[in-house]
Amino acid sequence: MSLNILFIGDVVGSPGRKIVCQALPRLIPRWGIGLVVCNAENAAGGSGLTVRCFEELADAGVDTMTMGDHVYRKDEIFKIFERSDRAIRPANFPPEAPGPELALVQARDGTPVAVFTVLGRTFMRPVDCPFHAADRLLEQIRGTARVVVVDIHAEATSDKQLLARYLDGRVSAVLGTHTHVATADEQILKQGTAYQTDVGMTGPHDSIIGRRYDRVLSTALTFVPAYFDVATGDPRLSATLFSVDPETGTAQSIQRVSINQEEAQRLLTESADETRPARSVAPLHG
Ligand SMILES: [Fe+2]
Ligand SMILES: [Fe+2]
Repeated sequence: MSLNILFIGDVVGSPGRKIVCQALPRLIPRWGIGLVVCNAENAAGGSGLTVRCFEELADAGVDTMTMGDHVYRKDEIFKIFERSDRAIRPANFPPEAPGPELALVQARDGTPVAVFTVLGRTFMRPVDCPFHAADRLLEQIRGTARVVVVDIHAEATSDKQLLARYLDGRVSAVLGTHTHVATADEQILKQGTAYQTDVGMTGPHDSIIGRRYDRVLSTALTFVPAYFDVATGDPRLSATLFSVDPETGTAQSIQRVSINQEEAQRLLTESADETRPARSVAPLHG
């Protein structure tokens, strides 16, 4: 028996949360998903996480939320950290940084799963070494969880590829977030770790990585700062579905998932057999 895990890429604002709430409760039973992880660093207004947004995502079926560089953008994250262990901060922040760095959760079949996230170091704020942070946490969970999901929240593709090779065979999956554009390189590495450079954004795809195109463009052209509102057009759920052997933690399959508004709507009516994870992303317009 294998364990199916769905990892949802950066959820951006209300368009992102809305499509998660619409699709996820139906996908869980249809695809036999045993655990849902999502990156929630942009869930509240495009930056940070509030109690209400946390609850919305949890109610939709998200078990664990990873955060990234925007973790402290909304003060309510401290309340979330106090009350729940379902949201985690990057593990290579200073030890004084508030919030848990590791989530130990139980999948629906009872399998213990460890989840953590680390930030890359290229074109990001200076953080501690992600390799050492991962080693430290793996040592900590030794004998506790064989299934380990790692979110590598990084700007540079090479940072993500390197960490995945470093952890190959020691964790179940290394999945990239932060750049908000899904990459077509989902694969199982030589030693059995599922990998994808970026899972992509769950939010408005008619945008500049989730923000209004006109606002971003005006600042790019004039250098006058503008408020980069979250866009609204073409919301999509971008995720990766992978399966693991719960005994060994080894990945068995990995598949990209992209669900647009129309498909999310269709989920409400169609039978389970008709819903298969999409292999590729549909073009933005038409
Ligand atoms: Fe980020
Ligand atoms: Fe993000």
